[in-house]
Amino acid sequence: MEDVTGVIVKDVLAKKELRNLNQEFVKEKVRKYVGTHKEIREKIKKEAYVRLRRSKEYKALIKNIRAELREIYGVFILKGYDKLPKLLDELKKNPSLENHNKILALHKSTKERLPYYLVVYKKIFEIIGTPKRIIDLACGLNPFSYPYLGCKPEYIACDLAEKDLEFIKEYFEIIGIKGQIKKIDLIKSNLFEIEGVIKKDDLVLLLKTLDSLETVKRNVSERILKNIKAKDIVVSFSTKSIGGKKAIHKDRRAWFEKLVKKIGFKIKVFEIPGESFYVLTK
Ligand SMILES: C[S@@+](CC[C@H](N)C(=O)[O-])C[C@H]1O[C@@H](n2cnc3c(N)ncnc32)[C@H](O)[C@@H]1O
Repeated sequence: MEDVTGVIVKDVLAKKELRNLNQEFVKEKVRKYVGTHKEIREKIKKEAYVRLRRSKEYKALIKNIRAELREIYGVFILKGYDKLPKLLDELKKNPSLENHNKILALHKSTKERLPYYLVVYKKIFEIIGTPKRIIDLACGLNPFSYPYLGCKPEYIACDLAEKDLEFIKEYFEIIGIKGQIKKIDLIKSNLFEIEGVIKKDDLVLLLKTLDSLETVKRNVSERILKNIKAKDIVVSFSTKSIGGKKAIHKDRRAWFEKLVKKIGFKIKVFEIPGESFYVLTK
């Protein structure tokens, strides 16, 4: 089984938009799927790989796991994402804002936020003051917005996608940012991991992520927020549906407002087109 799992992982990751995901993470998804689907388990035991690969059970396995990964990661990866190394090279030669913007435009969340970055950080810092350290959880490519901060905090970038984190590490080195990368799975993490990373005076960012984490594990937001020991947390949500222009009804976030009040945060909300920001303070 172990050998086959490795091959299955490679097949899943053969999809371009998923290839920066970490193999161990996908391996766990494969093990879980195989553990709950008897037919594929039997096929894996009996069939040679060539035949196994042609079976409908195998195709269903690949399709289902890819669909799950697409929802939490692939859907945000825009055309041209494979140009990231080349764009990073250009940024190394010339760390202009324009070259930062080209990288930010590769990911759906940062692309949508691009025209508003200055305003977003200005509004956040008006409420909480200038941070000395930022912990960006499920960061995507957001660390590349560093020049928009208007200050020079230490920066800890956390995500699942290890290869993306490697690019961020290289970026920190290029620009001379005091920064670190950490691979943290917010669903699985027992959060001691997060507690170890986060200190009381840090600003924690959790942008455009809780919705998709909730689809994987219900009520995980409560566990995450309760375990973040920082006094300032900024959480954001998309106000557009993933596919397009349809506005997401405000009530959909009533669950979140109720939750943060229950935990005991003070809330300030502001919006930019397509995204609403909750600045939570204790
Ligand atoms: C919609 S993107 C948001 C990226 C960034 N926060 C932003 O707003 O620009 C969601 C991010 O969450 C990450 N992610 C998904 N599931 C995760 C998990 N269980 N633990 C940590 N990160 C996760 C994905 O890799 C992706 O980078």
